[in-house]
Amino acid sequence: MFPKDENGKIRYSDTDFTDTWKAMELLVDEGLCKAIGLSNFNRKQVDRVSAIARVPVSVLQVECNPYLTQEDLVSYCESKNIVMTAYSPLGSPARPWIKEEDPFPLKDPIVGTIAKAHNKTPAQVLIHFQLQRGLIVLAKSVTPARIKENFEVLDFELSSEEMKAISGLNRNYRGCLLEWLSDHEHHPFFKNGERTDDCK
Ligand SMILES: NC(=O)c1ccc[n+]([C@@H]2O[C@H](COP(=O)([O-])OP(=O)(O)OC[C@H]3O[C@@H](n4cnc5c(N)ncnc54)[C@H](OP(=O)(O)O)[C@@H]3O)[C@@H](O)[C@H]2O)c1
Repeated sequence: MFPKDENGKIRYSDTDFTDTWKAMELLVDEGLCKAIGLSNFNRKQVDRVSAIARVPVSVLQVECNPYLTQEDLVSYCESKNIVMTAYSPLGSPARPWIKEEDPFPLKDPIVGTIAKAHNKTPAQVLIHFQLQRGLIVLAKSVTPARIKENFEVLDFELSSEEMKAISGLNRNYRGCLLEWLSDHEHHPFFKNGERTDDCK
């Protein structure tokens, strides 16, 4: 996944992402895909692509769950007619670098209480929360029963108080920070090795 050079440094591509976008536009021209989008880009990077885009940016896929609600980015995407896809909507509990002390939305007591009130599971509440905000949700499971469970999320509504309570859990926590790539010149949340976003 992350090839290294002889000094153990990750071999980054030196292709600028605007050139990658132009290549992706050719795929639309050829009818190989209908729409193209971005992932893990910050707002400035999306703006940079939008400024040169012949085919508009359709979607931005980013980490998003109640501990990282991405309110500003959601509003920004709405203003630009970009659909946001929420990845790791359950908090990515099996990511290889997770630590014991990391926050865990599936076990959040507020999510648990709301789930109980609707006779749903915490996972179903976490998925429905994003759908009710108008986001696309990308939950992953290799377990057939959970895959089925994760689809059964359209037969209930969260009240505005419940939506507010879940949004209130935000703590700008990124589980998918990838700080080991912080020396990359286009890392969305680092510049010269220093954090540039206000997330923890
Ligand atoms: N664009 C990007 O950079 C990026 C980054 C990260 C992830 N993603 C994508 O986003 C998708 C989801 O992200 P993710 O896998 O990090 O996190 P996630 O969907 O938040 O969590 C997946 C984990 O939750 C468990 N799970 C699934 N449904 C459950 C349920 N109903 N109850 C309890 N546990 C449940 C899964 O276990 P089992 O599988 O064992 O059932 C798995 O361990 C993936 O398809 C991934 O490719 C994209």
